[in-house]
Amino acid sequence: MAANPSAAACDDPRIVTRALAHIDLVALRHNLARVRACAPHSRVMAAVKANAYGHGAVPVARALVAAGTEALAVACVEEALELRAAGVQVPIVLLEGVLSAAEAQIAVDEKLQIAVHSPWQMELLQGACASAPLALWGLLNTGMNRLGFAPTEAGALAAAIAQHPAWRLHGWLTHLACADDTGAAETLRQQARFDAALEGLAGERSIANSAGLMAWPSTCADWVRPGLMLYGASPVAGQTAAALDLRPVMQFESRLIAVNAVGSGARVGYGATWSAPALTYIGIVAAGYADGVPRALPSGTPVAIGSRIVPTAGRVSMDMLAVDLGPDAREQVGDTVRLWGDGVPAEAMAARVGTIAYELFCGLGPRVRRIFHGGVGDGA
Ligand SMILES: Cc1ncc(COP(=O)(O)O)c(C=O)c1O
Repeated sequence: MAANPSAAACDDPRIVTRALAHIDLVALRHNLARVRACAPHSRVMAAVKANAYGHGAVPVARALVAAGTEALAVACVEEALELRAAGVQVPIVLLEGVLSAAEAQIAVDEKLQIAVHSPWQMELLQGACASAPLALWGLLNTGMNRLGFAPTEAGALAAAIAQHPAWRLHGWLTHLACADDTGAAETLRQQARFDAALEGLAGERSIANSAGLMAWPSTCADWVRPGLMLYGASPVAGQTAAALDLRPVMQFESRLIAVNAVGSGARVGYGATWSAPALTYIGIVAAGYADGVPRALPSGTPVAIGSRIVPTAGRVSMDMLAVDLGPDAREQVGDTVRLWGDGVPAEAMAARVGTIAYELFCGLGPRVRRIFHGGVGDGA
C-alpha cells in the first residue's frame, strides 16, 4: 500500500501510466520449477518479504501457493497479516519473530510460525503466550552474526521450548552469509556448525537461500528458502540468470515522452555531465529516481527500446532520464523503454551502481503500476 495515495500508481483509465512493472507469473512458476529441480528432496519456504521483493506480495504468494509452495517467509507481522487478509492459508514464517506480546498474540490467532532468535524473545513469549499453541523455529547464528542463538545454545533452547506443552518446535534455521560466492568455504563451515549444533536434536532443518540451493546442494536440507531466484535474478556471483535458466519476473518499463535532436557538444541533464560527441537524438524517458531508477546510474548504462539497446545519457533526474538514440534514430514518442527485464538484466544495472538486484526490485517507487500476467494473481 502506498503511503501517499495521491502519488500512488493510478487505475484511472484516462491516465497514461508513465512507468509500469509487468509481473510475469509464468516466469515465477518456471523459476519455482528450477528450485524444485535444484532441491528435489526439500520443501519450499518462499521468501515473499518486502512486498515479494517489490513484485507484489499477494499475487506472487497466491501464484506460488497455487503452484505448490509449502510455506512462505516474511520479515514481520504486518507482511503476514496482508497475506492472511488476502486468504493465503499456507504456513507463514516470521523470519525476525515478534517484537511484542501483542504481536505474539497475533501470531497465535493467525497461526503464524515464529523464528526465535534471541533470549529476550523467549522471555517475551514465556510471559505472553506460555500456554498458547505456538509453532517455533529456532534460529541459530552459525557465522553471519546477524541474528540467532549461538550453536551451543541449541540444546537449552529446545529444552526451554519443550517445557511448554502447547508449544511445538517446528525446526531450525540458519542463514548463509557467503553462499553467492562459489569459492567461499565459509558456507560449508556454517553448514558444519549447524549440523554439529543439532546432533541428536529433533526438528526440521533449513539452511539454503537461493544461492545456497543453486551453488551448494548439500545445504538444501528439509526446507529451502529461496527469494531472489524466484524473481528470476541470478543469486550466484559471476553467473547470469540466463545461464542458470532463470527468467526475469519483472519487466520494468516506461515510455519516451520526447525525442530531441541535439548538436555536437550539447550537454544533457543536471550538472551537464554528458555531452553529445556528434549530432544525435536524445530520447527522454518518463522514469527517474522517484520510480526506482538509481540516481547514481552512470551514462552509458544500457536500456532496451524494442530490440535495440541504447545507452543512458547524463544524470537520472527525479521523474526522467535521457537516452542517446544516435543520429539515425527511428524511435518515437510513446515507444516503450525497458529499464530492466528481458535483455537488460536488473543484476547488470545494479552492478553499474555498486548494488544488487534485490535493492532495485525493492526500490520500485509507489507510482509504478504493477500489472500481473499469467496466473491466479491476475488483476490483484
Ligand atoms: C533468513 C532469510 N532466508 C531466506 C532469504 C532469501 O534469500 P535469497 O533472496 O537470497 O534467496 C532471506 C533473504 O534475505 C533471508 O533473510
